[in-house]
Amino acid sequence: MNWQKGFKGKFRTQEFLKEHTTFKIGGPAKFFFEPRDTEDLRLSLSLVKKNRIPILVIGTGSNILVSDNGFKGMVLRLNAPSFKKIAFKHSRLKAGSGALLSRVVPKAGELGLSGAEFLWGIPGTVGGALIMNAGVREKYIADLVEDVRVMDYDGNIKILKKSDIKFGYRSSDLSKYIVLNATFNLVKSSKKEVKARIAKYLTYRRDTQDLSLPSAGCVFKNPKGNSAGRLIDLCGLKGKRIGDACISFKHANFIVNIGNARAKDVLKLMSLIRREVKNKFNINLKPEIKIWK
Ligand code: EPU
Repeated sequence: MNWQKGFKGKFRTQEFLKEHTTFKIGGPAKFFFEPRDTEDLRLSLSLVKKNRIPILVIGTGSNILVSDNGFKGMVLRLNAPSFKKIAFKHSRLKAGSGALLSRVVPKAGELGLSGAEFLWGIPGTVGGALIMNAGVREKYIADLVEDVRVMDYDGNIKILKKSDIKFGYRSSDLSKYIVLNATFNLVKSSKKEVKARIAKYLTYRRDTQDLSLPSAGCVFKNPKGNSAGRLIDLCGLKGKRIGDACISFKHANFIVNIGNARAKDVLKLMSLIRREVKNKFNINLKPEIKIWK
């Protein structure tokens, strides 16, 4: 089958998704494609549609749990240079969907632009962070957005103003599109102050979260007015292990992969956590991570 004829970007088959997730878990994607530019992206969308191939978009794979059986469709990654551009105009930042937050935030800092410091340390791309409305307790990436340029799955490009987008806690309705790039409003500050704020967020994260072992960040959303990590901790579950999936000793809302964890180990551990928290506090925890079954 040569349905992918005409693609300009990198196309692979049977690509192991564990190589593309921060959890280091996940079986093979039947097809894996990194389009070179928006035209290539549009072509790939029309060809998968014509051939009825399911499609999923991946960023840095930092907030997903991929099945051990992989995905029998095409995984798309906006990793070519044309999707990773970063540009500044006065205090506005324009960043491509595939750009890493860990590149964008220090670049803003070098120019003395403030507002994005809290995103430092979140292991994601601009596109993934927008779709998930990534953030820390009191701050969300949505707060900075001016507009977002997207492509729908029929290949049409549009620009959505912030008011056109529904952002929620770790969610947005951007998931029905492919994010191409976005404009963010920052404010002028001094390099020194921005650097100091970045360091503060980094220290907090290092002190409280398990960053040395593969994980997908926080597994469950925080219930209103509470912390999932605190509840799981109070159930005495730190260190609980199924296979090589283990509840972090440092932050109970992190499940870490201590070797060769499988998705099914993580799912079992998640069920156990939900059961225990429900029994003890009568609270239903909802997953924050996306599960690709
Ligand atoms: N706590 C415990 N035990 C634990 C973990 C936390 O008692 O094992 C307590 C802490 O001592 C603190 C409270 O729970 O009093 C809140 O903990 P923390 O400040 O770590 O924040 P969180 O609510 O657990 C949220 C986000 C994180 C984000 C941090 C930092 C969610 C689900 N989590 O965590 O986001 O990094 O705030 O601001 O919204 C993520 O989304 O993947 C993520 C890690």
